Amino acid sequence: MRFGQQHDHLANMRIGFLGAGSIVEAMLGGMLQKTLLAPEQIMVTNRSDFKRLNELASRYGVQAVRDKHQLAANSDILILAVKPKDAQESCQCLNGHIRPEQLVISVIAGVSTDCIQNWLGADCPVIRTMPNTSSAVGHSVTGIARGRFANQSHLETALQLFAAIGSVYTVSEEEMDIITGLSGSGPAYIYYLAEAMERAGAEAGLKPEVARQLTVQTLLGAAQMLIQTNEEPAVLRRKVTSPGGTTQAGLEVLESCAFQQAVSSAVLRAVERARELGAQYL
Ligand SMILES: NC(=O)c1ccc[n+]([C@@H]2O[C@H](COP(=O)([O-])OP(=O)(O)OC[C@H]3O[C@@H](n4cnc5c(N)ncnc54)[C@H](OP(=O)(O)O)[C@@H]3O)[C@@H](O)[C@H]2O)c1
Repeated sequence: MRFGQQHDHLANMRIGFLGAGSIVEAMLGGMLQKTLLAPEQIMVTNRSDFKRLNELASRYGVQAVRDKHQLAANSDILILAVKPKDAQESCQCLNGHIRPEQLVISVIAGVSTDCIQNWLGADCPVIRTMPNTSSAVGHSVTGIARGRFANQSHLETALQLFAAIGSVYTVSEEEMDIITGLSGSGPAYIYYLAEAMERAGAEAGLKPEVARQLTVQTLLGAAQMLIQTNEEPAVLRRKVTSPGGTTQAGLEVLESCAFQQAVSSAVLRAVERARELGAQYL
């Protein structure tokens, strides 16, 4: 049987996406590829870009719905996927249209579950999530936290949905800002490192495309080593650092530039920024 055995939380559920942007497309791709849901179970809506809605409908076989109230009325699970600046208006527009048992899942950065409940005007279960941009290739890491009216079963439903776009971790809502600074913004830190490695390879004389491939495969290989050996990063680093060798020479330069401290400060500043942005919606 295609549906309903492993994914019993989602069998016969109707899912409505409020928002039809990049994260929704990543989720649709992952969920449908993993046959987690059938396209007929899914509806999408947005604000005004109906061409985009029709594109998603023809690409994924999902239903494009122009009326948000119709979307809310026909969904068992409502997924909020608008930008933070549009969160209040889009939720308030659904005030009075949410049923108490309806599960609401938000991917909106920085907006608390309490805020969403207040704007929707319902004591409904709300789950808050923070995926990252690697969701586009099925390798997000997503932090998931439940709001005050969400129970274990609601949490498991959300875990199943987000497992379709990568790995998932349950956290407390207070930890969401840390997730945002670490894994939410994390891909950009890695791209920044990749830019520098690529540039150095080309400056030293490699063709740019060769420098790119060597950089990318090095990042991929190192990530695989971390996963497959389950060793601490410091242990793996020491294993490849022979005294007086090339790696040691390179690492000494990174140490003299306080590289680790810089990366750590970047993550902590991003966490602080997430808290500052979230405070607007308290
Ligand atoms: N992209 C990611 O990988 C990622 C990762 C983590 C978290 N997120 C979060 O996911 C959310 C969406 O991000 P995104 O990158 O997918 O944004 P996006 O591509 O800009 O899409 C936003 C969508 O929201 C729709 N929208 C705006 N106001 C609306 C309203 N009042 N009613 C209904 N729909 C409305 C837009 O419709 P129109 O086009 O018609 O205006 C558009 O379809 C954000 O809160 C972001 O923080 C995204």
